[in-house]
Amino acid sequence: MEFEQLAQAAAHAIASRACTIRRARADDAATLAAFGARTFVDTYGDFRADDLALHLARTYGEAQQLREIADPDVATWLAHGGGALAAFAQVRRGPAPPCVAGRDPVELHRLYVERAWHGRGVAQRLIAAACDAALAFGGATLWLKVWQRNARAIAFYRKCGFADVGETAFVVGNDATTDRVLVLELDRAPRGEGFASILRNGR
Ligand SMILES: CC(C)(COP(=O)(O)OP(=O)(O)OC[C@H]1O[C@@H](n2cnc3c(N)ncnc32)[C@H](O)[C@@H]1OP(=O)(O)O)[C@@H](O)C(=O)NCCC(=O)NCCS
Repeated sequence: MEFEQLAQAAAHAIASRACTIRRARADDAATLAAFGARTFVDTYGDFRADDLALHLARTYGEAQQLREIADPDVATWLAHGGGALAAFAQVRRGPAPPCVAGRDPVELHRLYVERAWHGRGVAQRLIAAACDAALAFGGATLWLKVWQRNARAIAFYRKCGFADVGETAFVVGNDATTDRVLVLELDRAPRGEGFASILRNGR
C-alpha cells in the first residue's frame, strides 16, 4: 500500500473513533426524532416541501421513535461525537421485496450521518453494528432501499459490498419515485471494529 493510502487510512480510523456507538434508549427518542427529520430533509431536499412535511409527519416524531426503540424487531444504533448525535442506523425484521432472494433477510431501514461527519468512517462503523444486529436477529442477508438519485449513498453501499438486485417504489408524501434495492450476504460481510480499515484498504 502507498504511503498516502496508509496515512488516509490512519486519519480515517482516528476520525471515526472520535465517535462512540451504542444502542438507542427510550430517553434518546426526542433527539433521534429531531435528528432523523433534519438529516432526511438534508438528503431529500429535491422533493417538494409539502411532500417532505407529509413524509416526516408519517415516519418521524418522538412517539414513533419511542415505539421503534421499544420494538423487539427493530435495533437502532447511535453514534455520538463532539457531545452530540452524529449518526444513526436502524435494522428491522420484516418482509422483503420479491427481488431479495437471499435467505433470512433483515432490512437496513435507516442510515443517516450528519453532513459534518461524512467521509470520516462513522457510516462504516454503523454498517458493522447493523450487520451484527442483523445476525443477532437470525438474518443471513442484509437488504436496503436507496433512492436511485442518491449517488453518494449508492457509492458507499457498493464500497461496503452491497449488490443491486432490483427496484421498488419510493414514496415521499404524494410523490412516487424509484428506489434501488441492494443486498449484502452477511456471511461474507466484514464486521467489528476492523471494518472501517478493511474498507479503506480494499477487500
Ligand atoms: C450515505 C452515507 C451514510 C455514507 O456515509 P459517508 O461517510 O458519506 O460515506 P463515504 O464517504 O465513506 O463514502 C461515500 C463514497 O461516495 C463517493 N461520493 C461522494 N459524492 C458522490 C457523488 N455525488 N456521486 C458518486 N459518488 C460520490 C465518495 O467519494 C465516497 O467514495 P470513496 O470513499 O471511494 O471516495 C452518508 O453520506 C449519509 O448519511 N448521507 C445522507 C443520508 C443518506 O443518504 N442515507 C442513506 C439513505 S439509504
